[in-house]
Amino acid sequence: MTMDTQRQLQTLKDQLNYYGHLYYVEDKPELPDAEYDRLMQELLMIESEHPELITSDSPSQRVGGQPLNSFVQVRHEVPMLSLNNVFNEEELNAFNKRIKDKLNNHLNYTFSCEPKLDGLAVSLMYEKGMFVQAVTRGDGFTGENITHNVKTIRNVPLQLQGIGWPNRLEVRGEVVMLKDGFIKLNEENLKKGEKAFVNPRNAAAGSLRQFDPRITAIRPLRFYAYSVGVMSKGFGDSHVGRLKQLRKWSIPLSLEVKKVKGLKNVIFYYQDIMHRRNNLPYEIDGVVIKVNNILMQEQLGSVARAPRWAIAYKFPAQEAITTLLDVEFQIGRTGIVTPVAKLNPIFVGGVTVSNCTLHNADEIVRLGVKIGDTVIVRRAGDVIPKIVSVVESRRPDNAKRIQFPTECPVCESHIERIKGEVIARCSGGLVCCAQRKEAIKHFCSRKALDIDGLGDKIVEKLIKKELIQAPADLFRLTEGQITMIDRMGHKSAQNLVYSLNKAKETTLPRFIYSLGIREVGEATATNLANHFLTFEAIRNASEEQLMEVQNVGVIVAKHLSSFFTEKLNQAAIDVLIDVGVHWEDIEVPYEYVPLPLEGKVVVLTGKLSTMSRSDAKLALQALGAKVTGSVSERTDLLVAGEEAGSKLIKAKQLGINVLDEDGIMKFLSR
Ligand code: IVH
Repeated sequence: MTMDTQRQLQTLKDQLNYYGHLYYVEDKPELPDAEYDRLMQELLMIESEHPELITSDSPSQRVGGQPLNSFVQVRHEVPMLSLNNVFNEEELNAFNKRIKDKLNNHLNYTFSCEPKLDGLAVSLMYEKGMFVQAVTRGDGFTGENITHNVKTIRNVPLQLQGIGWPNRLEVRGEVVMLKDGFIKLNEENLKKGEKAFVNPRNAAAGSLRQFDPRITAIRPLRFYAYSVGVMSKGFGDSHVGRLKQLRKWSIPLSLEVKKVKGLKNVIFYYQDIMHRRNNLPYEIDGVVIKVNNILMQEQLGSVARAPRWAIAYKFPAQEAITTLLDVEFQIGRTGIVTPVAKLNPIFVGGVTVSNCTLHNADEIVRLGVKIGDTVIVRRAGDVIPKIVSVVESRRPDNAKRIQFPTECPVCESHIERIKGEVIARCSGGLVCCAQRKEAIKHFCSRKALDIDGLGDKIVEKLIKKELIQAPADLFRLTEGQITMIDRMGHKSAQNLVYSLNKAKETTLPRFIYSLGIREVGEATATNLANHFLTFEAIRNASEEQLMEVQNVGVIVAKHLSSFFTEKLNQAAIDVLIDVGVHWEDIEVPYEYVPLPLEGKVVVLTGKLSTMSRSDAKLALQALGAKVTGSVSERTDLLVAGEEAGSKLIKAKQLGINVLDEDGIMKFLSR
């Protein structure tokens, strides 16, 4: 053993003590759980190699934290065990194999699958059917008496219902804070100038540790049972059977507890609940899988402090730490300046994240973040990743303040920030190359001139090669010029010139929308067209006249009039008309009708016999659908061809509409 190992061990202990105190005692965790676990693993590794270095005060020696002195300590008659974790199917298989081997292979066993509730383990004692005591898990052997607080939790029965309960019955379960109540609580706390809780679990912990039960009483806490401890008389021979019996005695259970047979179905349960987790009323961080038969549980027994008959199959971490390498400022179509964090790439919530938005200057101040900082990144489900906090104790000496620019990084125009507004804007308008680029992308987009085969990537390449500077330049492109960009062969160039020509014939609402005037979406563009009938009338209208249009108020009228009085815009419009963009004036009013699949998320799977998958995708997109690759609770429709497999099963499980080939062909030909 070297001095280095000893020093490393001490550093790990200090860090774990520091972060552990913040987590367990202060309810203000600074690190994501996964990072804390990693430090603990490192400590355990060194200690297993050098057992002579294990001291009684090492954080490895107390799993679950110390009971607070201020509450009366209570010894658990039966220790409250913890669970071992698995993180993938391979580890889950190994868990199953260990069971099979121990049960001599031939036994047919089922599992109880349950959500792993993300709250606090609590033991409730009932004597002669009366609630008498509640104790936290503490370190598994001794917990804190929190009876007076738990009494205020509304779904905890103070008297058991029904008949046949044992004289002494200890019910174990989790106290959680409901998600919507948590959001409200934090809003109220912020209003009162108090600090917000980091997550529902910490809010639940904080609520249970109140000395004044009147405070606990107004917190949205719930209890859900998941096992029993002391019993003066046994009941039930299966875990699920026991839980159902508890339910009959009015003890609350999670609605998600299910008896499941076979590992395949366990995996299915896991996938399914992971996709539904955002819609559950409480936070969960995995699935607990337990051998259902009680005799088998006894036969399997436990190792150290975790049972062999149960395992927690955790979801991939939604939070991870990384370093903020730099901040770039991106300029949007209307000049909005968005700070974008450049991160050391990090795997979180199932994907690698290397950029994430910092929204605006206020957000940077709120986070108190500097370049070089260690930050916690969160990506939950399909929600865009974000930085949730800074690990200030890890700030390097050379951390750099984030300077919000006063000049546009692209065109050097002044950046304006209107008093009282959080948004900052580049004042360059069409002079700004970044704004022009976004304006051209918008001009080509599906709801604007809908130029087939001209996606964002190609627009970017055309601009980079300086082949275009403004929308009108698109219509002057030659095939030869287009082939100058990567991966554009003769045929593609020909197709693009063809679709550009075709797109010149448009409608008045599309043309107005394509100009990208602030706050003028499709519906406003249609209303303007219907009201004024010709483009000339719109561009010459006064603010008062504009405000006569349905849903056009002072602000939109101002945006319209300042857009049309700007010389550069006038010139850009005239050139567009010169190069041949045209439309029919309005005789019959347009009705703003959203596309049939507007905003719908569609997944294609299996083989289609009448068209290729890519053609089907294009056809669906033309009807307004967003076509994605995997089925989730956000999916609206699954198109399932021949030999559709797991996606079809999942869609059925989630209750998503499914169309077969006949169905989709009928829909497309309507
Ligand atoms: S059973 C002997 N079931 O997870 C098994 N625990 O990591 C003891 N938890 O301290 C626990 N949901 O706070 C069990 N459905 C569930 C659970 C669950 C959440 C928590 C519990 C326990 C921790 C162990």
